[in-house]
Amino acid sequence: MRIAVLNGPNLNLLGEREPEMYGRATLGEIEAATRSHADALGVDCAWTQTNHEGELVEAIQRLRGGADGALVNAAAFTHTSLAVRDALLAIRVPFVEVHLSNIFAREPARRHSVLADVALGVVCGFGADSYCLALDGLVRHLRATHVG
Ligand code: DQA
Repeated sequence: MRIAVLNGPNLNLLGEREPEMYGRATLGEIEAATRSHADALGVDCAWTQTNHEGELVEAIQRLRGGADGALVNAAAFTHTSLAVRDALLAIRVPFVEVHLSNIFAREPARRHSVLADVALGVVCGFGADSYCLALDGLVRHLRATHVG
């Protein structure tokens, strides 16, 4: 089973960026923990981060035929990007929306996601653990629907 993890803008700054909101783990540390969890589950994990909306759209388009499922932390694009939503709808790869913070407990502009209603589910508010929790849910769903 092939799982892609896509990360949007400013997540490369985790560790130093607003640690009271996002914790002290770097994106590299979160990647290592997610990869090790993916190994334990017996699934492949491809990891990407970009600060650019068009690159995120292209990374989503490349998942066609190349991934069975995805974890998507689109960061600020979660709240604004119809282009990211359209790309996810176009490729029809099941995905879980992931956030470190609980976006529903934040400023009004962050409480709305333009991706959530087309996601399999949303995992947010568990800090770095959100990634592994989302991976568990995605893999269980895919296995229950006979992928991998
Ligand atoms: C985030 C939440 C977004 O609102 C924010 O723009 C981010 C990170 C999270 O993981 O909590 O950059 O996606």
